[in-house]
Amino acid sequence: MISLRIKTIASFISNDDVVLDIGCDHGYLDIYLKENNLCKDVIASDINSNALSSAINNFKKRKLDIKYYLSDGFDKIDIYFNTAVIAGMGTNTILHILNSDKSPNKLIISSNNELSKLRINLNKIGYKIEEEKVILENKHYYSIMLCSKGKQKLSKKEKLFGLSNNSEYYNYLIKKNKDIIKKVPLLKKIKLNYYNYILKGLTEKK
Ligand SMILES: C[S@@+](CC[C@H](N)C(=O)[O-])C[C@H]1O[C@@H](n2cnc3c(N)ncnc32)[C@H](O)[C@@H]1O
Repeated sequence: MISLRIKTIASFISNDDVVLDIGCDHGYLDIYLKENNLCKDVIASDINSNALSSAINNFKKRKLDIKYYLSDGFDKIDIYFNTAVIAGMGTNTILHILNSDKSPNKLIISSNNELSKLRINLNKIGYKIEEEKVILENKHYYSIMLCSKGKQKLSKKEKLFGLSNNSEYYNYLIKKNKDIIKKVPLLKKIKLNYYNYILKGLTEKK
């Protein structure tokens, strides 16, 4: 069964998108997009040959004609695409991949860590975050961002906690910070208490 995280990524894809899935791994997103005709075309790519082989086998099993590339980010991609999905990696890897002149106007990004750093750097390299969804799956919150080229001035709150307006997620962060506060030095306690003050404001707004 397709995961909620993959479905949420796919919810940002439109019919006229030619999607390059960077870091396709098993190719589950590509299969979901292709089998449900959710975009014009999809291209699978991965830096790891074992991961790409797994995707290719899955495409073959389903008789799906999906082009694929062994590539570090955009490096080896020599065909047209207008949308890139970069999901399931850390922020540093995502930023390394985006350091390319092939990076398209439309991006769908889901990082495993350092979301604040990601938001700040997306703005710095010329992307605005159009929308951010946060979903809960297997007891883990995932942020999925829809970005396009352009300027944006995020507030401090948005840089820190995103644009999702998901109060369950904010409450989860408050609780997590409360647990950490007990174990950290004073300066960190002050910082986390400040974050919780902002987060409470965000949950009360709703
Ligand atoms: C955890 S999997 C995520 C798979 C899928 N995108 C998802 O969100 O479920 C991360 C994949 O990214 C690939 N990857 C990591 N760095 C990459 C890079 N620089 N270029 C392309 N693929 C990369 C890995 O080989 C791995 O298959």
